[in-house]
Amino acid sequence: MDSFLAGLTMTAKPDDPSSVLLSVGGLVGQEVNLDAFLHQLVDRIAASMQADRGTLYLIDYPRGELFSRAAHLPEIKQIRLKIGQGVAGAVAANGAPVNIPSARDESRFNPDIDKMTGYRTTSLLAVPLRDGAGEVFGVLQVLNRLGGGRFDAEDEQRLSAIAAQVSQALQATSLYTELKRARARPEQPVGYFFNKVIGESAPMKAIYKVVQKAAQTDATVLLRGESGTGKELFARAVHVNSRRRDKPFVKVDCAALPGSLIENELFGHERGAFTGAEQRQMGKFEVANGGTVFIDELGELPLPVQGKLLRVLQDREFERVGGTQTVQVDVRIVAATHRDLAQMVREGKFREDLYYRIKVVELVLPALRDRGPEDLERIARHFIATATKKHHVEREPKLSTAALDRLKAYHWPGNVRELENCIESAVVLCDGEILPEHLPLPETSRLPPPAPELAMKVAAPTGEVLELAEVERRHILSVLERAQGNRTQAAKLLGIGRNTLGRKLKEYGLAE
Ligand SMILES: Nc1ncnc2c1ncn2[C@@H]1O[C@H](COP(=O)(O)OP(=O)(O)OP(=O)(O)O)[C@@H](O)[C@H]1O
Ligand SMILES: [Mg+2]
Repeated sequence: MDSFLAGLTMTAKPDDPSSVLLSVGGLVGQEVNLDAFLHQLVDRIAASMQADRGTLYLIDYPRGELFSRAAHLPEIKQIRLKIGQGVAGAVAANGAPVNIPSARDESRFNPDIDKMTGYRTTSLLAVPLRDGAGEVFGVLQVLNRLGGGRFDAEDEQRLSAIAAQVSQALQATSLYTELKRARARPEQPVGYFFNKVIGESAPMKAIYKVVQKAAQTDATVLLRGESGTGKELFARAVHVNSRRRDKPFVKVDCAALPGSLIENELFGHERGAFTGAEQRQMGKFEVANGGTVFIDELGELPLPVQGKLLRVLQDREFERVGGTQTVQVDVRIVAATHRDLAQMVREGKFREDLYYRIKVVELVLPALRDRGPEDLERIARHFIATATKKHHVEREPKLSTAALDRLKAYHWPGNVRELENCIESAVVLCDGEILPEHLPLPETSRLPPPAPELAMKVAAPTGEVLELAEVERRHILSVLERAQGNRTQAAKLLGIGRNTLGRKLKEYGLAE
């Protein structure tokens, strides 16, 4: 499994069941795997409570319902209950724990869920999850005390203690933020599936929709987009939203490996396949069996290996390097590239049949500059919060208006990754407030405008020797471009008045 368990300390000491959770830090920054994490967590809680299984419910405010976020439920995907309905619904409505020693003799117990799942509930204990203000936002329940027993008052105390920790951990996630946001703006549905993916602009919403639909199938997904647009993030989102979420997500980066090793990496080899192959080794397809293989930088896949991949896509089978035995696998394939594969097909560098097989669902991630200023701001603020935690900065720094303007005016060739790095360094360098000078963006737009009457010669970054006036002219042009022609904003970025800018534009023949 991917790294999330590594970063997480779940110490379930038998003598101290409330220590199941403990390292909240594990959750933060691992949110793409939040679903898988919550699954594990609920399992751990159930085990430490000596219960057969557990369920975590959260409140979907706009619909007035509880939905199961992580349930030990192979049978059905999600349970939804009206607030007030059933035991968990009652806990959500009243905020008081409910302990049901014997479900059969209990009128509050709603047998409908058992009917749906085929599970037989005997005993049940449910406690509320409360936010910092004491308001209930979910319910944690455990079912069927092992050995046919019942949960007692001590169990109730323990589960409440665990719930307090779970609540605290959850409040640090974007899932929680999303629930609260949906409450404030009920017309926008809750984005349950996109932990850590920030963005509400139209192009991003369109992508969420496709991902949600495609994830539930086994369709091959091709992610395209400039560097740093979130291709890997979405590859993971596809996985965690699929029925394969508890199985491995295995990444193969074709750009990180020499061409000759990729085949081996993907398909493994038999003993004696080549010098040094002393043992049979499984490839990533076998390792990922049941799960998802993410082929990153697909455009770098050597032609001979493309044929072998095509066969996996068509028949889910292959032979290991140096082998004759056919291996069958059940994997879902997600691929990413920043290259124009259609063009590569035309140039004979990429197999046409593979191209069509792989882009069953094609997602083109928009460049950051095309997501609008609101998304940019949201993502920037998200990174301020995560960098604050990551670097143990005591107080989350404020983002000054000038710095925000500067972020908005920049064209972000490195997209979200560049923004992430930029904000991270600003958070570390600043002193309580991020100012434009804390943003490590290219020099040009930070130069104070030199006075044009000083006809000096200067060396441009290109190596040309330019008149100072020409440097200024180019600088103004580039800033204007970044401000998308908005003079007020360009003037602000240049640190001059709007009138001065107008005068200079005339002077340089850039406007009448
Ligand atoms: N919408 C988003 N919200 C929050 N974080 C994002 C978003 N998109 C990308 N990121 C973050 O930006 C960084 C770059 O994303 P990712 O690695 O997925 O990009 P990529 O398209 O695979 O880039 P490359 O082509 O360079 O490999 C990651 O840290 C990722 O978590
Ligand atoms: Mg990538």
